[in-house]
Amino acid sequence: MSKPFYLTTPIYYVNDAPHIGHAYTTIAADVITRWHRQRQEEVWLLTGTDEHGEKVMRTAEANGVSPKEWADRLVETAWKPVLDTLDARVDDFIRTTEPRHVTAVARFLNSLHDKGEIYEGAYEGPYCIGCEEYKLPGDLIDGTGEYEGQKCCAIHLYPVEMIAEQNYFFRMSAYAERLLELYETQPDFVQPASARNEVIGFVKQGLQDLSISRSTFDWGVPIPWDSSHVLYVWFDALLNYMTAVGYGSDDEAERAKFARLWPANVHLVGKDILRFHAVIWPAMLMAAGLPLPSQVFAHGWLLVGGEKMSKTRLTGIAPADIIDTFGSDAYRYYFMRSITFGGDGSFSWEDMVSRYNGELANGLGNLASRVAAMIGKYFGGVLPTPGEVTDRERSLAAAAAKAVTDAETALDRLAIHDALASVWHLVDAANLYVTETQPWKLAKEAGQLDEDGQGVDGSALATSLVYAAEALRSLAVLLNPVMPKACARLWEMLGASGSLQEQPVTSAATFGALPAGTAVTKGDALFPRLIEE
Ligand code: ME8
Ligand code: MG
Repeated sequence: MSKPFYLTTPIYYVNDAPHIGHAYTTIAADVITRWHRQRQEEVWLLTGTDEHGEKVMRTAEANGVSPKEWADRLVETAWKPVLDTLDARVDDFIRTTEPRHVTAVARFLNSLHDKGEIYEGAYEGPYCIGCEEYKLPGDLIDGTGEYEGQKCCAIHLYPVEMIAEQNYFFRMSAYAERLLELYETQPDFVQPASARNEVIGFVKQGLQDLSISRSTFDWGVPIPWDSSHVLYVWFDALLNYMTAVGYGSDDEAERAKFARLWPANVHLVGKDILRFHAVIWPAMLMAAGLPLPSQVFAHGWLLVGGEKMSKTRLTGIAPADIIDTFGSDAYRYYFMRSITFGGDGSFSWEDMVSRYNGELANGLGNLASRVAAMIGKYFGGVLPTPGEVTDRERSLAAAAAKAVTDAETALDRLAIHDALASVWHLVDAANLYVTETQPWKLAKEAGQLDEDGQGVDGSALATSLVYAAEALRSLAVLLNPVMPKACARLWEMLGASGSLQEQPVTSAATFGALPAGTAVTKGDALFPRLIEE
């Protein structure tokens, strides 16, 4: 049995509720893994929350509750429910305050300590609490306005704090050469290319050892051999990718799970946290002698006014604000289709309304309702036997085969936007096919005499509607990973047999799966047109 496809999202900070930036990563992760599920592969999708550290602790204090109470509240009222809102199908949700994580983190630390990878030293330098990161002087920008005269984080745009502490350090500097060799010999380890170049450039400047403990507050995993320190939140957080799948567990079944799932295939992250995943994380694993993940993929940012949308800067939009109007399918489609995966993008209501009406309501939705309505009207809702096949049918079938090949290739590069564009060629081809074959005209001609005085039968009409229905069947399979609700309804409309979940992606490449006699029903519009206000 081949190894399951294991993909992770970042574990999000619980200092605030999710916005559409977080949702973007989660949806991309869900679409990629649903695609693999549709291939009938075994899949594991992990998400969760990052609950330790100074940022979460201060937020809890500001709200007059303990950090754990705060985390519980945010997880139960916001982070878990948003998965339903987004229609994301995850296999596990890890919280870094769970015993399974805390225990395993302590084991990992002990193993590095035993190997001599950790030593005690003194640290002094700037720290950004938004990033939860020690900054290098070159990372900082000069503050403006109320922060005039202060050094600020280039991502969060607020002042860094000077930290001077006695800490434990991880010998990360020792791994610079091995990391560069990794990026060289496994070019796919960091993707896309822009991210890879950034990381190589960063590591080429040389690495410093990493301060991995703090002693000025206590909201974190205690350092096992020195309880006056807690572990640096990023060291704790990165380990979730292993602890969630059984690393460091005493339980037999959990250990078997780790053997089966680790290493992860893809860590999906935003570019803000690229270095943690592409530098610190592999160095930690090298030090521990554990296998490395196959890939870290950093997507771009959703921008507001040219800057990263963020909770700290209060520019976040809640996913429900958009989903309440458009539904989860259209939301998922919009973000995956309109932004090049790997680049930055922005959300606009105008653009969303225009894609919804143009591509979903008019493009796909209208195709489905027209075809189903005509099968209802001309054949009493029962799929007929097709007649003679012409070049038009052959080219529609070829368009389906090409959509599958192109979308598969794009998806393997994690070019989700390209995969959708490839599938949309089939939507367009099917609409064109219906426009050109003009089934409504064929219906009028049936039963009449042609130019040669021959009686016209309904076989061309039958062919046209059967082929259009077959194209819709392919689309239901290909779009199911992106728009599961609409595709389930389309599948039902088409009266297709078997469960949609169980149709391999490749089955969308061949026509002929809908036998004559299949009951086709019209149902409600898949994407009712929205009137622009
Ligand atoms: O960094 N555009 O958590 P976080 C696109 N706990 N994606 C965005 C985004 C935006 N404007 N804003 C957030 C942390 N994201 C750590 C991670 S992992 C071991 C620990 C997404 O709550 C994107 O995936 O700040 C980004 O990397 C992540 O949320 C950061 O979430
Ligand atoms: Mg952040």
